[in-house]
Amino acid sequence: MKLFDTHAHLDSEPFDEDREGVLERARGAGLVGICVVGCTVPSSQKCCELAAAHPDLLCAAVGIQPNYVSSVEPAAMEAIAALAERPEVVAIGETGLDGYWQDAPMDLQREFFEQHLELAAQLDKPFIVHMRDSGEEILQVLTPRAAGGPLRGIMHSFTGDWELAEAFLAMGLHLSFAGMVTFKKSAELRHVASRVPADRLLIETDSPYLSPEPLRGKRPNEPARVVHTARCIAEARGVSPESLAELTTENAVRLFRR
Ligand code: NI
Repeated sequence: MKLFDTHAHLDSEPFDEDREGVLERARGAGLVGICVVGCTVPSSQKCCELAAAHPDLLCAAVGIQPNYVSSVEPAAMEAIAALAERPEVVAIGETGLDGYWQDAPMDLQREFFEQHLELAAQLDKPFIVHMRDSGEEILQVLTPRAAGGPLRGIMHSFTGDWELAEAFLAMGLHLSFAGMVTFKKSAELRHVASRVPADRLLIETDSPYLSPEPLRGKRPNEPARVVHTARCIAEARGVSPESLAELTTENAVRLFRR
């Protein structure tokens, strides 16, 4: 199986003890690509360094995750813009809006989200969107931008309903599914994943968070486990795990221009 994990926080602390082991197991499980995604300036920097050290397997995304926007240094976006020029950086993010944790005022989150979208457009790189209890607000930000033509980006760890999925798909966006789709209670989300057009479907771990079934609760999650998400979505779509893996890998390679 050829797999691509489009969203992993491999820079984060739970991986400090065994990062090489994590990469080894990923290769063993058939991963040919992992996008390591930054949440702050130091984390984005670390993602770049990791990707540069393992160019055969890793690529990077740089950005300020919405829950961190009120605690960053004043020149944070300048630092992100500088990192974004590096060759290993294939996307801008993660960005987006979070209406759940409310770690940062929504106005400030929106300001940063717009800046990330602007940077992505300038560099012609896709953007990666975090959406939690913020579907309508994100639609409001993206709709005027989509008026100019299809958008290049990922709705990461997508958990919205089909109506929201359709709206993002109509804008040209890709939908990426994480471990949540494998949970017993997620029948509706599996149905959404089964209806996404084949050329817009992506899979991810969002590791170290939320391990997929049958490993739910076993921490940290890691890229090798994306195979379980692939199998689950393949079953929902009535295709073989191999073809689902190949399809989502092709989509990631094309979107990231790897
Ligand atoms: Ni993330």
